[in-house]
Amino acid sequence: MNIDELKLVAAAIVAKQKGLLAADESSPTIKKRFDAIQLESTEENRRRYRELLFTAGGIERYISGVILFDETLRQSSSGGIPFVRLLSERGIIPGIKVDKGAKSLALYSGNQITEGLDGLRDRLAEYRQLGARFAKWRAVIQIDECELPAPYAVHANVHALARYAALCQEADIVPIVEPEVLMDGKHGIERCEAVTSQVLKSLFEELDAHRIAFEGILLKPNMVIAGLKCPSQPEPRQIAEATVRCLKRYVPAAIPGIVFLSGGQSPQDATANLSAINELGPQPWQLSFSYGRALQAPVLDAWKGRDDSKVKAQEVFFKRCRLNGLARDGTYTESMEGN
Ligand code: 13P
Repeated sequence: MNIDELKLVAAAIVAKQKGLLAADESSPTIKKRFDAIQLESTEENRRRYRELLFTAGGIERYISGVILFDETLRQSSSGGIPFVRLLSERGIIPGIKVDKGAKSLALYSGNQITEGLDGLRDRLAEYRQLGARFAKWRAVIQIDECELPAPYAVHANVHALARYAALCQEADIVPIVEPEVLMDGKHGIERCEAVTSQVLKSLFEELDAHRIAFEGILLKPNMVIAGLKCPSQPEPRQIAEATVRCLKRYVPAAIPGIVFLSGGQSPQDATANLSAINELGPQPWQLSFSYGRALQAPVLDAWKGRDDSKVKAQEVFFKRCRLNGLARDGTYTESMEGN
């Protein structure tokens, strides 16, 4: 493990005003996104869409890295430039999703476990050779008002995250460790805080037991928010206070950065909440974004698969990148949405 290189890559990912684009939708997930704009999910359409994102003007000011899916890591632009090279030449670091998705946890109905550890050492060696400098593994934690998640499901998921993180560090790849407590359901913000706390506490115990160098990883958590169907929805300030309180209790200061997932929040909410979180700073870690839907939903809507709306879609994408860049230092306001 080359800890100096891991530290450099992690620091570059969470550089001032910058964060990650999560464009690593697996084939079934991107099909869902394309279905919503009535676009067929062919390999060529997926390539065209990723090219639109990766070639948008000016995004390198706010986007430090992109998480790619295996297929995309091997694709090229219409001009024949491999995406990995195209991104690297813009100063954007290529990363790779390495988990194989969340499946039902046997005998623990309602809980899920992420698969993908078998063969991971060999896959990481290949990904590193292809140019990936960081990786992502997403654990999915189901939550309800009292029974979910089962403590054993939390344990199984954080154990898998720690094994993944160790293999990444061994391969000189920065692991992004993503334990996502879902926002589906009616639970309130207090329940989300309790479950997120429990997950982060056992995650860092497990990472420590696996001898992970905390200085060379990034954490990708959910924000502490209420379930989507909860009748009482907290304001950004309350979300920010609960999120920072929870992180301060359970995340070691040695971690260089925390990059939030958007998890189904609207693009505006994800930006406003990140800005409110940063307004409470400074904190021991950089607090940034690694958004999928919150960066891409308006882009897909503007594009709809049409060549003549590509430029407009790229402008929409740049705007979301810029606003999240401002949220990195807490200077975003809702009035900027109109510009
Ligand atoms: P969302 O921001 O859409 O939650 O996606 C981030 C991600 O990479 C989930 O694994």
